[in-house]
Amino acid sequence: MTDLMQAATAPAGAPLVLTAMPRPVPGPGEVQIEVAAAGLNRADLAQKAGVYPPPPGASAILGLEVSGIVSAVGPGTDRFKVGDRVAALLGGGGYATHTVADEGSVLPVPAGFDLALACCFPEAMFTVWANVFDRAGLKPGEAFLCHGATSGIGVMALQMAKVWGASPIFGTAGSEEKCALARELGATRAINYRTEAFEEIVKAEGGADVTLDMVGGDYIQKNISAAKPDGRIINIAYQDGFAASLNFGPVLMKRLSIMATTLRARPLADKRRIRDAVERDFWPHVLSGRIKPVLDGAFPLAEAEAALARMAHGGHSGKILLRP
Ligand SMILES: NC(=O)c1ccc[n+]([C@@H]2O[C@H](COP(=O)([O-])OP(=O)(O)OC[C@H]3O[C@@H](n4cnc5c(N)ncnc54)[C@H](OP(=O)(O)O)[C@@H]3O)[C@@H](O)[C@H]2O)c1
Repeated sequence: MTDLMQAATAPAGAPLVLTAMPRPVPGPGEVQIEVAAAGLNRADLAQKAGVYPPPPGASAILGLEVSGIVSAVGPGTDRFKVGDRVAALLGGGGYATHTVADEGSVLPVPAGFDLALACCFPEAMFTVWANVFDRAGLKPGEAFLCHGATSGIGVMALQMAKVWGASPIFGTAGSEEKCALARELGATRAINYRTEAFEEIVKAEGGADVTLDMVGGDYIQKNISAAKPDGRIINIAYQDGFAASLNFGPVLMKRLSIMATTLRARPLADKRRIRDAVERDFWPHVLSGRIKPVLDGAFPLAEAEAALARMAHGGHSGKILLRP
């Protein structure tokens, strides 16, 4: 008899509802996880709207990260076993009671660490490491500018930059309350982008060596303006638009690098490399409590639609979780 699971699914455009379906069977190098929590990501909204299809081979079910307990292993797995507590990055399939992950995208969660809260880390930590530390090469003592400072991504970027020794750390957010949270998480200067011009402030305070941007649009020129000589600007999204009319003069004169990457479509070997680096450089700080989960709130899996509505509205700070 096939084992069943519950997943939050919907035909295009319709609200998500719980549906019974067969559990995914772990393939070579994969583990099956009984989900304790699934994390929401802004990409889920785009996928549900039909404008961000899952990459080939990925589950069509929403959900890019989970935490939980390994419930089965596929052939050739060599690290994790049934019963292990884990947190994992997924190509899809998190909004369910069971999912599968490539072993190379899985982090161990020791006994004593809250298993559901462990889900606040994988997508954000992998993304921040791959962009801020790997591509943009943020060094201790360098100035870091983080847009979306209280987003699921931003709350990790601030904390990771702080433990890395970046200084100063600028964070932009859309309210005084969010700016206060950004300061708690490591921003030495939080900027309310609704009332202050971030590029003027950052420039006046010496400029940014590395900028993490998810806004795009007119932020592209402003990021160039706020950058120090030899600065690196990296985009992980363009929420305000991919297109901009730009003056490249300061890029030339300040020797700037402008980059952009996505995580989801990377080859599994690259995700394993990112997992290894996160586990080596930052996971110890998570387990010691120096880098903290930032939870906005948790919804039952059956209320996935309400959870997505909260993210779409934008009032949240940190991670929204689903609990099966
Ligand atoms: N490329 C990749 O591999 C990758 C991986 C993960 C995520 N991402 C992207 O990274 C972004 C954050 O993801 P998430 O899941 O953490 O989403 P999220 O929690 O919903 O955060 C979205 C953030 O964008 C900020 N924002 C939106 N419009 C803005 C504007 N005009 N000016 C300044 N800030 C603005 C919001 O700031 P306020 O709330 O303060 O207004 C909020 O902090 C998303 O766009 C997502 O698609 C990319």
